[in-house]
Amino acid sequence: NIKIAIIGSGSTYTPELIEGMIKRKDALPIGELVLMDIDARKLRIVGELCARMIAAANMPCRVVMTQDLDEALTGADFVLGQIRVGKLPARVLDEKIPLRYGMIGQETCGIGGFFKAMRTIPVMLRIAERMKALCPDAWLINFSNPAGIITEAILNHAGVKMLGLCNVPYNMFKSIRESLQLDRPNIEYVGLNHLSWITGIEQDGKDYLKTALEMGLNSETMKNIPASGFSKELIRMAGAIPSSYLEYYYFKNKKLQVVLDMELSRGEKCMQIEEELLDIYSDSALHAKPELLASRGGANYSEVAISLVDAIHNDKQEVHVVNLLNNGALDFMRDDDAVEVCAVVGKDGAKPVKIEGFDNRHIIDYMRMVKAYERETVAAAIAGDEDAAMRALLMNPLVGDYDAARGAFEELKEAHKEYLPQF
Ligand code: G6P
Ligand code: MN
Ligand code: MN
Repeated sequence: NIKIAIIGSGSTYTPELIEGMIKRKDALPIGELVLMDIDARKLRIVGELCARMIAAANMPCRVVMTQDLDEALTGADFVLGQIRVGKLPARVLDEKIPLRYGMIGQETCGIGGFFKAMRTIPVMLRIAERMKALCPDAWLINFSNPAGIITEAILNHAGVKMLGLCNVPYNMFKSIRESLQLDRPNIEYVGLNHLSWITGIEQDGKDYLKTALEMGLNSETMKNIPASGFSKELIRMAGAIPSSYLEYYYFKNKKLQVVLDMELSRGEKCMQIEEELLDIYSDSALHAKPELLASRGGANYSEVAISLVDAIHNDKQEVHVVNLLNNGALDFMRDDDAVEVCAVVGKDGAKPVKIEGFDNRHIIDYMRMVKAYERETVAAAIAGDEDAAMRALLMNPLVGDYDAARGAFEELKEAHKEYLPQF
């Protein structure tokens, strides 16, 4: 029997994960599910709904709620990480303060994402430390953002088995299959988390990428991104289908204006949705995930996360897009760079699929630039090194200005100080 621990289970996304576990209950015999959160109120409201869902599905699974990390980790087989250090109010600061310096504020991109990394990395490293003591063979499956940078930190500095996850690739693949009406395409996907492209589509020996580029085909845009879509000309120029997160980079000025014009930041909007959801979850007659959850950006997270657990537990040798160390998959990146690529997943973990002869210069150069940012970001987060922080921010295409970086850095550092032990 499997023991799963969800760290940060007070997230209103958790019923989504439970739905995935219920769907796969025959393949995944979960004997114990531990819901851990430091927020007692959300732990209880979300946890009780999860327990009702599991009972209604007749799963022989013990559900435990705890605020104690060690209790949650002891003997776990899988640890699902979905923490948000400082919760949504901290996200709102990441979104709003950069605007005063002429930079976009966003949860994972730019200087907002940088500060989310500063807050999250120390906590994730501590979780990994405790895992080594309490469940050294467990898999850490992390979707805490910024997921790619967290992967870069954990896999290079923590010594636990870990994979980083995002729902963007899954949703992109799904929309490409639907728009091109393909049932089993081979899709080539290259990038870093929230900086990725589809660079190949092939089925039965036929090249559908060409068709897609000629059509100017866009993939699905995520609910959380104020997207305007990519033109045919842009897609042809890139030679690939960009993820909707590339809108922040390709349309840097336009997105800044859109975000400045928003009445509420995305985080403020999410705070409203969260309170409504908690209200709905509190109804003891509810035994399923409510429709309102679909207005968040996390569509299909359960499928992505629980199918991955299934692939590891049942040694399925299936292809999943995950964040992991490159280890030669992309010859233009270092072996120890965390990348988001296709990997074959089984009981020994995930092995990235090697891509031969990749020659899209635009993507190669863009990935290297943003990876340089990510590497310095991890160094800054671990050592509290402000020079590394400035070097990171100067490499980030959404920052790239010393005065703006310095000013926003000081203000964000002050605003988040209770969550930044390293500085
Ligand atoms: C997408 C991203 C996630 C992100 C979410 C935000 O799903 O892949 O990494 O957390 O959007 O959605 P929200 O509803 O919180 O704005
Ligand atoms: Mn076990
Ligand atoms: Mn994501």
